[in-house]
Amino acid sequence: MPVTVVVGTQWGDEGKGKITDYLAESADVVVRYQGGTNAGHTVKVGEEVYKFQLLPSGILREEKTCVIGNGVVVDPGVLLRELQDLNARGVTPATLRISERAHVIMPYHKVQDALEEKGKGKLAAGTTMRGIGPCYTDKVARYGIRMVDLLDAEALTEKLDVVVPLKQRLFKSLGGDETLSKADLLREHLDYGEALRDRIADTSVLVDDAIRAGKDVLLEGAQGTHLDIDHGVYPYGTSSNPVAGGASVGAGIGPTRIDSVIGIVKAYTSRVGTGPFPAELHEDPADRIREVGHEYGTVTGRPRRVGWLDQVMVRFSSRVNGLTGLAVTRLDVLGGLDTVKMCTGYTADGKDVTEFPADMRLLARCEPVLEEHPGWPDLTEREWVEMAGRGYGALPETMRAYLDRLAEAVDVPVALISIGPSRAATIDVRA
Ligand code: IMP
Repeated sequence: MPVTVVVGTQWGDEGKGKITDYLAESADVVVRYQGGTNAGHTVKVGEEVYKFQLLPSGILREEKTCVIGNGVVVDPGVLLRELQDLNARGVTPATLRISERAHVIMPYHKVQDALEEKGKGKLAAGTTMRGIGPCYTDKVARYGIRMVDLLDAEALTEKLDVVVPLKQRLFKSLGGDETLSKADLLREHLDYGEALRDRIADTSVLVDDAIRAGKDVLLEGAQGTHLDIDHGVYPYGTSSNPVAGGASVGAGIGPTRIDSVIGIVKAYTSRVGTGPFPAELHEDPADRIREVGHEYGTVTGRPRRVGWLDQVMVRFSSRVNGLTGLAVTRLDVLGGLDTVKMCTGYTADGKDVTEFPADMRLLARCEPVLEEHPGWPDLTEREWVEMAGRGYGALPETMRAYLDRLAEAVDVPVALISIGPSRAATIDVRA
């Protein structure tokens, strides 16, 4: 498995952090390829829980090279804090490298995010307010600040000379009264550049060298397929490309280098933010799943909307990502339910809807077609770990039937099964 992409198949929060950390054991290089501080990846090692917004989830394995690719938008203040926190907990990721081409989330992007959300009315996505959309917008508009600019006072001054007055006018037009100080922005960001100088590099070369040397490379996505700017629930998604194609662009390697794509599927569906959600649960057992699964945003703390596993969404993901295997997570959270349901399709306006619609008004009218499956027992975290230790055959028959049904419905084999937050609660069924 030399070059593998890990991608979320739903609306993010599928457990990518845990699976990336697990797969990182056999990788040499772990690359985060898109998104920014909107992500919240949780990794549990022993009794220690780590939450990352920017650092690749492989960072806890200190011998691995970790890379923040050009497709990521970097908030340098947050990145430095994450590194300091790790240092304080005894982890020193000496090998972390950040692409010189990655764009920088500037303080004005966060102000802009808030002002624009306020003015967007029904089009507001319920963003994480971390400046993600405005940063990617500036990148495409070609006046973004890149990591390499933080190393060059003249280049940064030249850009801020143009951008600061422009942002100031924008704030005013959006009803904002914040005043930007070019001198402060310059000082703060040159300081960040100094602090990160040794880590800022041409990471495309680094990753390519690793591939040429036959090393195993893991490409880690943030968010999920249905938040993708092209393939997601536009305009309610994020501003980057979490899909596997984004891994090639965001890591700086050609698509022919990628060997496999693992799609992370949570055993149910969750969603933060606004927009239609056909398989959403509005009653029992929604609260139970939210509480047992701690379904509250890692970044914002917002309660997540929850619903049944939706085959239409995962089939879509299989297609646009070219999935080669599924990693099914959080099956333990559904433990104790008599019946577990799966959405097999939708109906709207008296017709069957078999493909995930681009039309958000149609999606909002879609009713789920649900099939029922017998549930499995509620076990303690320790019991799940013990079961994982005994392998696939030890799983409850009803859970195996649920997994078989999913694999058949989306035509992708199950590669990994996760029945708890720790590394040990993972079953690898790859041949
Ligand atoms: P933004 O990425 O902050 O611009 O937010 C856009 C939409 O994507 C909002 O609905 C967010 O709640 C959602 N979103 C962004 N990042 C994540 C994530 O990591 N997990 C789940 N939802 C996310």
